[in-house]
Amino acid sequence: MSNYVEIFEVGPRDGLQNEKRQIPTAEKIALVDCLSTAGFKRIECASFVSPKWVPQMGDSADVLAGIARKTGVSCAALTPNMRGLDGAIAAKADEVAIFGSASEGFSKANINATIAESLERFAPVAKAAQEAGLPVRGYVSCVVECPYDGAVDPSQVAKVVAALRDMGCYEISLGDTIGRGSPAMVDTMLKAIVQEMPAEKLAGHFHDTGGLALDNIEVALSHGLRVFDAAVGGLGGCPYAPGAAGNVATEAVHDRLIALGYQTGLDRDVLEQAADMARAMRLA
Ligand code: HMG
Ligand code: MG
Repeated sequence: MSNYVEIFEVGPRDGLQNEKRQIPTAEKIALVDCLSTAGFKRIECASFVSPKWVPQMGDSADVLAGIARKTGVSCAALTPNMRGLDGAIAAKADEVAIFGSASEGFSKANINATIAESLERFAPVAKAAQEAGLPVRGYVSCVVECPYDGAVDPSQVAKVVAALRDMGCYEISLGDTIGRGSPAMVDTMLKAIVQEMPAEKLAGHFHDTGGLALDNIEVALSHGLRVFDAAVGGLGGCPYAPGAAGNVATEAVHDRLIALGYQTGLDRDVLEQAADMARAMRLA
């Protein structure tokens, strides 16, 4: 198995979306530009959701217009519906993501739809994105715990994973949205999910509320996952996931992977610089 593990940087989107202060667009652009020199292949830079729901992401088109595009770095955007996809295409996102939930409570709170309704809504988005030549990533939130419904059964996660797979998602990111998962819970969940989607097409997306994100990543590595979402400086959270702390910090994931003998292709000094920038945005 390859020694390379990819960190998918989600700081400019998942990291910043929950910040109360409206961060100036120029600061977001500077963060993405810094991250683009770190060696990432993919950076989630934007989110074409309703600005009524997530005001912080309302300048996503300006962020994508302002950043220095770097060859080999794919700029990703969240697209909850056709309107979001139109925005992402107009802003020249390189890839898009549809995002569902394994739990009904979070689905309703986050995107105002039942799981079934959300899947119906995503199908034409995925189809149109693929027709426009854009790779589509899928997210499944609350893969172990939901802030509204409690423990989530792995079979429920498997159903949503299978639906997103059938829509053509090239990769599915499994979100421990509120960061309450334990290694044992993640292990049980992944045993079920790899039956639906091969490990090389899965990503781990761990928030670090319980301080177990790095241990959960190790469990996921043992199941063959080789892509992990993380945010520089450990920023993050979702406005519709009460109690969720930040994403696991990119620099911490990098250091753990190196200690385990993996390679990330990332420049540690640039990560530190970007983490400083991200933390300064929170403190400002
Ligand atoms: P809704 O209120 O049911 O839908 O929201 P609507 O169609 O009635 O739209 C409401 C208003 O938003 C309307 O404006 C629409 O035009 C507008 P009004 O008529 O009232 O003036 N609107 C839009 N504006 C811009 N772009 C759009 C768009 N769509 C509608 N794309 C909706 C449904 C899905 C839009 C809403 O619930 C929403 O935007 N939710 C997104 C919430 C969100 O972004 N959450 C965070 C991301 S998910 C996450 O963080 C988890 C993840 O990290 C993984 C993990 O950790 O588990 C990915
Ligand atoms: Mg998240």
